[in-house]
Amino acid sequence: MKIIMLGAPGAGKGTQAKMIADKYGIPHISTGDIFRANIKNGTELGKKAKEYMDQGLLVPDELTCDLVVDRIAQPDAAKGYVLDGFPRTIPQAEALTAALKARGESVDYAIDVDVPDENIVNRMGGRRACLACGATYHVSFNPPKKEGICDVCGKELVLRDDDKPETVQKRLDVYHAQTQPLIDYYTKAGVLRSVDGTQDIDKVFGDITGILG
Ligand code: AP5
Ligand code: MG
Repeated sequence: MKIIMLGAPGAGKGTQAKMIADKYGIPHISTGDIFRANIKNGTELGKKAKEYMDQGLLVPDELTCDLVVDRIAQPDAAKGYVLDGFPRTIPQAEALTAALKARGESVDYAIDVDVPDENIVNRMGGRRACLACGATYHVSFNPPKKEGICDVCGKELVLRDDDKPETVQKRLDVYHAQTQPLIDYYTKAGVLRSVDGTQDIDKVFGDITGILG
């Protein structure tokens, strides 16, 4: 099953993608997590990506597309995957479509987690992220068992550098300009499904599993 998660920054793509990956036994591939891991490890890719991410801008397509095309060709992705944060531009979607087509494949579901902008800014200030394993928490809506510590891997949780309110607003603007057109793209491809992302985390997941079966 090949699934794409669409939705604004903070809509809950990462939260739901992790739950989908666990339930269906497929890898969760988050370009944001891959870039953050590279930043943490001080790689060349990380240095370049950080310049854009800290400003709330998208990392250029040429640094992003090959990375994902290589990742989905790995053996653990043979039975499918859930892509979180990719594609984010029409050229990225076209690159993905072309890479899949070359193997006689296509995306099965593009799930749009729909949350209005006014709900987003509130969520971001309370988010805590594990840079080691990619798990995401919220101080009130989804707290870890032990404050500041990841339930999954026991590492320290942090506030992401790009979760400052002014950067969140920039990310929302970029989302509307560059990523929202993908809703149309995947509607035309016949694979778009929308869920109401303002509901509780478990309710959103129930709607998604209702779609995926
Ligand atoms: P990325 O890491 O993908 O960030 P994003 O799209 O801005 O999305 P977020 O991770 O902020 O939100 P989310 O939808 O995953 O929400 P979450 O589940 O955490 O990208 C970061 C940056 O990397 C980009 O700005 C860009 O620079 C670069 N980048 C990445 N991919 C790229 C690409 N393909 N091309 C170019 N550049 C790229 O939830 C948010 C919070 O809300 C959490 O605290 C969570 O616990 C809580 N929450 C979740 N669901 C609910 C709910 N139902 N009710 C209440 N709270 C909830
Ligand atoms: Mg995320």
